[in-house]
Amino acid sequence: MLALALGGAAAVVGGAGLWWTSGRRFTSGEGDELAEPEEFTSHDGLLELDLETAPERIRIGDREVSMLAFNGSVPGPTLRVAPGDTVRVRLRNSLDAPTNLHVHGLHVSPEDNGDNPFISVDPGQTFAYEFTLPADHPPGTYWYHPHRHGYVADQLAAGLFGAIVVADLESIPVTRERVLVVSDLTVDSSGNLASPDLMEQMMGREGELVVVNGQVRPRLAAAPGERERWRVINACTSRFLRLQLNGQSMQLLSLDLGRLAVPREVPEVVVLPGNRVELLVEGQEGSHTLAALPVDRGGMDGMMGGGMMNGSRPGASAPVELLTFQVTGSPVDALPPVPAAPAPRDLRGEPVEGRRRLDFGMAMGGGRMGPGGGPGMMAFTINGQEFDPDRIDADVAGGAVEEWTLTNSSPMDHPVHLHVWPMQIVEEGGRTVAEPRWQDVVNVPAFGEVKVLIAFDDFTGRSVFHCHILDHEDLGMMGTVRAR
Ligand code: C2O
Ligand code: CU
Ligand code: CU
Repeated sequence: MLALALGGAAAVVGGAGLWWTSGRRFTSGEGDELAEPEEFTSHDGLLELDLETAPERIRIGDREVSMLAFNGSVPGPTLRVAPGDTVRVRLRNSLDAPTNLHVHGLHVSPEDNGDNPFISVDPGQTFAYEFTLPADHPPGTYWYHPHRHGYVADQLAAGLFGAIVVADLESIPVTRERVLVVSDLTVDSSGNLASPDLMEQMMGREGELVVVNGQVRPRLAAAPGERERWRVINACTSRFLRLQLNGQSMQLLSLDLGRLAVPREVPEVVVLPGNRVELLVEGQEGSHTLAALPVDRGGMDGMMGGGMMNGSRPGASAPVELLTFQVTGSPVDALPPVPAAPAPRDLRGEPVEGRRRLDFGMAMGGGRMGPGGGPGMMAFTINGQEFDPDRIDADVAGGAVEEWTLTNSSPMDHPVHLHVWPMQIVEEGGRTVAEPRWQDVVNVPAFGEVKVLIAFDDFTGRSVFHCHILDHEDLGMMGTVRAR
């Protein structure tokens, strides 16, 4: 078991051994060398740790910012596990609001003290989570964050998130790997996080500053010919990231879970809130910038009586530079090619036992008033209903394959996420998707439609699906699913 847990990791680094020994403290001045969070790795099939959520002063660039942190750092520690591992987390809540813990993308039980989004851990309380990854759990990059309905966006935006790495089945030859957690925030003049107004919440808040591992434009140094594996997590509350690396090619190895059979050269890649991508980057001499380009994710044009909302479109601002990749020095020998992986499962051709349509919508009112009883707020709904934890919205047979048609009757995109069971995208904008494509967050564009297949395998119990623009989720755009 020890060999299994460490095998993948040790093989990945080859001779370099740079990333796991670094253990540097965070230093976050602009242009500093990239620092990575502390890591906890499973041993003998078990990962046991304490996580504490608490207010913390965090250095971001040249500012001290009042944030919330897991174990004092933003991002929180990185958890490294292998398929078959059991994870035990004692979560201590030292916030002044309720919270809980969600392991985004992991295929583990949603019941009891597993990945249960209905749990609420009150201030001062500790909760013991425990879950086991199936032996055939897909490798990949996942993450954790709080999921207490009503507080999710605020707690994420304040710094509560961290990476989870599930070890490869077969090692991938790289010089080094990096965990890159992208988040955004707006800091006011006194070093506090700006609280979004009603409008920003309805649009999905976007912070002015976009940081990687809490650092402003960190620097990654490599030699020509070195191959790096970047595990990128979009931990922004609402911001879509369209990643481009100038003057340097990159290959997509993984999106959300598992890996592509063969890494694919990509000029750019869109990473929705909640999505992860793994990129392979082979150092080409020079200084390259990884930038997030603007994404038009719709707006609320015409939704509020044609008044103030017209023309407000989030996400359509200027490009943001995330990091610089500096490749200098003497070239190193080329690494062996990345071995092909078996093609992922394809649910097409398996019998579909249930079909449903879920419409993600926005409407005036919905019984919700603005602060101070002011003008009505938009209601964010699924099939016309706001979240109710006591209602079952999708009752599915355990083990069944279902086809879900996700529609969007609103003028804004909604990146839709389902817990526990990943989705295979089979149709997008009326077009069939050729290759098997699995994701756990899928964009349903404004007035658009996406068809997915889901295998409700391995676990029974209740969980949720929701828009991963977390302001929308907190405003009601979440439903429950039960596998029985
Ligand atoms: Cu990343 Cu339900 O969440
Ligand atoms: Cu999730
Ligand atoms: Cu949304």
